[in-house]
Amino acid sequence: MHYGDRRPEGLPHDPFKAIVAPRPIGWIGTRNADGVPNLAPYSFFNGIGTGPHMICFSSMGPKHSFVNAKDRRDFTFSLATEPLVAAMNATSDSVPDGANEFRLAGLTEGQSVEVAAPFVAESPAALECVTLSATRLKDRHGNPTDAHLVIGEVVHTHIRDEFIRDGRFDVTLARTLSRLGYMDYATITETWELARP
Ligand SMILES: Cc1cc2nc3c(=O)[nH]c(=O)nc-3n(C[C@H](O)[C@H](O)[C@H](O)COP(=O)(O)O)c2cc1C
Repeated sequence: MHYGDRRPEGLPHDPFKAIVAPRPIGWIGTRNADGVPNLAPYSFFNGIGTGPHMICFSSMGPKHSFVNAKDRRDFTFSLATEPLVAAMNATSDSVPDGANEFRLAGLTEGQSVEVAAPFVAESPAALECVTLSATRLKDRHGNPTDAHLVIGEVVHTHIRDEFIRDGRFDVTLARTLSRLGYMDYATITETWELARP
């Protein structure tokens, strides 16, 4: 099958997220205007550069994480892993601005070194970021869309020492989560190597 704007009846649910998968989950920490911590998962998330390291996430509508990262000019990423899945999911709940999702999910606020936003201390790895841009994306006709994209430069990295094996961050030890389509998730339990030509 193939289709444009109109999805065939045989596909009652949009397969887009199942096709663009697996996606890493950016567990985004910010502070609101009053300094109250905010935490939420974003799977429209990825690393987009190494010189300097840059990451991005996209909010469908100007959610708290977008507004906070835009206004306060910083945010954190914490790695979402299988042992933390219940807490990660809990932080996706719609709660009013000013509700501290670290506290609601029973998580510890890790104190950042270079930015104000906290990170998830229980997570195997976290990145502190300075916001480079926070913009509402436009479609091909120039019309504004729901997607609000934040790009950040990584200024500090946290890794819990027990997840380093032979000088490498071990994703199978961390049991890194990824988001698939529908209600599906996957855990990284196995990796293999391939040398570049
Ligand atoms: C695994 C997962 C991934 C998610 N990814 C996104 C995403 O990429 N963009 C988005 O707008 N919402 C996403 N959500 C929903 C947000 O986490 C949810 O709307 C949350 O309440 C936003 O919180 P905030 O307003 O504090 O930023 C995701 C939820 C889950 C559980």
